[in-house]
Amino acid sequence: MILPMYIFGQPVLRKHAEDIPLDYPGLQQLISDMFETMKNAEGVGLAAPQVGLSIRVVVVDLDVLKEDYPEYTGFLKAFINPHILEYGEETCAMEEGCLSVPGIHESVRRPKQVHVTYLDADLQPHDEWVDGFLARVLQHEFDHLEGKMFVDKISPLRKQMVKKKLLSMAKGRFQCDYKHKPNH
Ligand code: NI
Repeated sequence: MILPMYIFGQPVLRKHAEDIPLDYPGLQQLISDMFETMKNAEGVGLAAPQVGLSIRVVVVDLDVLKEDYPEYTGFLKAFINPHILEYGEETCAMEEGCLSVPGIHESVRRPKQVHVTYLDADLQPHDEWVDGFLARVLQHEFDHLEGKMFVDKISPLRKQMVKKKLLSMAKGRFQCDYKHKPNH
């Protein structure tokens, strides 16, 4: 089932999301719905707050990028109760967008590597350093679980440039061609 996307301005996007119990009801259905919602909106990552749930669940589909990144062929993963333990020292800038911030793409500087813990969809624990495009996507998605969004991390100048657009978006003026919850 395609879930409505929560757009910039919705309070749930600014909340700290909680870990879920391992017997969280309907978890597998939620993961499946999140994959479907992400695919429908042509995203590579989706965090539960973006569908209105303040819980630590993220789905990532890097398989869609296999032409540019063959190493991600078949990469479709859920991340349950993820946490970032530490960041690498090197950083790089890359343009980002977000399904909850339609129409805005901006350069964001982030660490190139990140040490994460999470459970996979089978609730098996993982503790690993990730790098490359995956490190970028996980930082963006896990930020959602802390109530942070990529537009918080752009340069002060660019922030000034998109300020009006974001204010309008929060008031409900935006173009979005996938199912979403209207901002009032
Ligand atoms: Ni996002």
